[in-house]
Amino acid sequence: MRLLLNIRLALSSLLLYGLLSGAAQSAKLPKGFATQKNGRFEVDGKPLSFVGANSYWLPLLTSQDDVRSTFKQMQDAGVKVLRTWGFNAINGSELAGALQSGLTYYQVWNSSEWTLNEGPQGLERLDFVINTAGEYGIKVILAFTNNWVGYGGSELYINWIAGAGHSHDVFYTDPRIVASYQRYVRTIVNRYKNSPNIFAWEMMNEARCLGDLPAGPNCVPGTELLTKWYKQQSDFVRSLDPFHMITTGGEGHFFKKNQTIGFWVDGVFQSDYNFNGQAGEDFDDELFLENIDFGTYHLYPQTWYPQLDFPGSNFTVKDWGLLWIQLHADSAKRANKPVILEEFGLTGLQNKTDMYPAWIDLALKTQHAIMPWQFGALGLKESGGNRLIKYADALIDGASPNDGFAIYQNQTSVWNIFKNAAKVQASRSG
Ligand SMILES: *[C@@H]1O[C@H](CO)[C@@H](O)[C@H](O)[C@H]1NC(C)=O
Ligand SMILES: *[C@@H]1O[C@H](CO)[C@@H](O)[C@H](O)[C@H]1NC(C)=O
Ligand SMILES: *[C@@H]1O[C@H](CO)[C@@H](O)[C@H](O)[C@H]1NC(C)=O
Ligand SMILES: *[C@@H]1O[C@H](CO)[C@@H](O)[C@H](O)[C@H]1NC(C)=O
Ligand SMILES: *[C@@H]1O[C@H](CO)[C@@H](O)[C@H](O)[C@H]1NC(C)=O
Ligand SMILES: *[C@@H]1O[C@H](CO)[C@@H](O)[C@H](O)[C@H]1NC(C)=O
Repeated sequence: MRLLLNIRLALSSLLLYGLLSGAAQSAKLPKGFATQKNGRFEVDGKPLSFVGANSYWLPLLTSQDDVRSTFKQMQDAGVKVLRTWGFNAINGSELAGALQSGLTYYQVWNSSEWTLNEGPQGLERLDFVINTAGEYGIKVILAFTNNWVGYGGSELYINWIAGAGHSHDVFYTDPRIVASYQRYVRTIVNRYKNSPNIFAWEMMNEARCLGDLPAGPNCVPGTELLTKWYKQQSDFVRSLDPFHMITTGGEGHFFKKNQTIGFWVDGVFQSDYNFNGQAGEDFDDELFLENIDFGTYHLYPQTWYPQLDFPGSNFTVKDWGLLWIQLHADSAKRANKPVILEEFGLTGLQNKTDMYPAWIDLALKTQHAIMPWQFGALGLKESGGNRLIKYADALIDGASPNDGFAIYQNQTSVWNIFKNAAKVQASRSG
């Protein structure tokens, strides 16, 4: 049944493309698919500039009404793109607890291979999120796994396949792990590849040479470990799906050869993995990979550099953010590809209202799309508005999880910064 249907779909698409042949390349794209051209995103030939939302917790909600309510709140804020996790994996030992608490899970690890959960507590929840997004004019960026342990990331692959005692970087090189990761990627891509509601595939959230497991001896500048892995995986995804955009999900680490970029504390120069290639990533190079459609990077200077803003440092949190935004804008311009400031966050309402306007101003001036970490929804009703999800993530009085970075609509001063940015982006879109 399914196969026949696919063949029929393929035939009708072929006919459609036949009719359109001779048009610009973007015309070959199915209608409504997002793509990129000359450094800009576009849909059906019209430019798309946007403010997006990060919400890993949306597929973890058990109530479809709450999912709808969240999308409505995003739509009201002018959000056009949602980024969420396309993974939720649990260890077999967590299964009983997950069944009891209603935790969403897609993969269960009980051996060196995981089993898939396509049921109502599994991928059906992700299906609902992806199908519903389009009703609110929103497209979805889906990440295939996590660099960190959160919600069952790469460490599960490493521990179950390579075994205990390995460093994090074997994730990118052990052929058995790569094959297992690709088996999952194939599952997700094949499930949604015909949907215009997918904005892009993302290979991993915040890939780094080190994870919650330590870095191995391989994690030194110059290996370009992630650049190689990004090439391998983006080519693989492209072989499954000719149309949707593909990106890294990386934090945007550079390998700035022979350049000293950093700041000074008490006269001592500070530079690190963000610039020296040690994270395995080389933002400048990876943007030139054929099947990487746009760049992503993240920005958390307050957490990364506690020295900033304190006596002795000649750089502020705000200025470090501006430097990071400018460097990525320059890099994207060289590659003629779009770039998303895909996560950024400051704790404290005052910090947010003080510093976000300058960052957003520069990001908009340099043609970024922006996605703050993270969207806050209010008025959620499941379990009476109070539910422990996992780790410290909980719904409290109807508010979605808050890690200190969440932005809710009753925090008017911050909320309006993004609402206004969304208006600017909308005025640049077709
Ligand atoms: C995994 O193993 C646990 C503990 O042995 C067991 O309770 C559970 O049913 C197993 N799950 C799967 C999916 O095989
Ligand atoms: C899975 O759970 C078992 C039992 O709690 C634990 O021993 C093992 O380390 C876990 N494996 C991973 C990869 O987390
Ligand atoms: C960096 O400097 C070294 C030593 O001077 C030189 O050999 C190398 O070619 C330079 N690399 C780049 C990328 O400029
Ligand atoms: C910080 O101090 C260094 C060394 O004196 C100097 O080169 C650099 O320009 C200063 N940066 C800023 C932003 O003041
Ligand atoms: C605001 O930022 C400063 C500088 O990074 C930090 O020390 C302070 O804790 C932040 N305030 C809050 C409430 O998080
Ligand atoms: C926003 O709403 C949440 C949840 O109802 C509440 O806890 C919080 O105090 C409110 N914040 C403001 C600034 O009103």
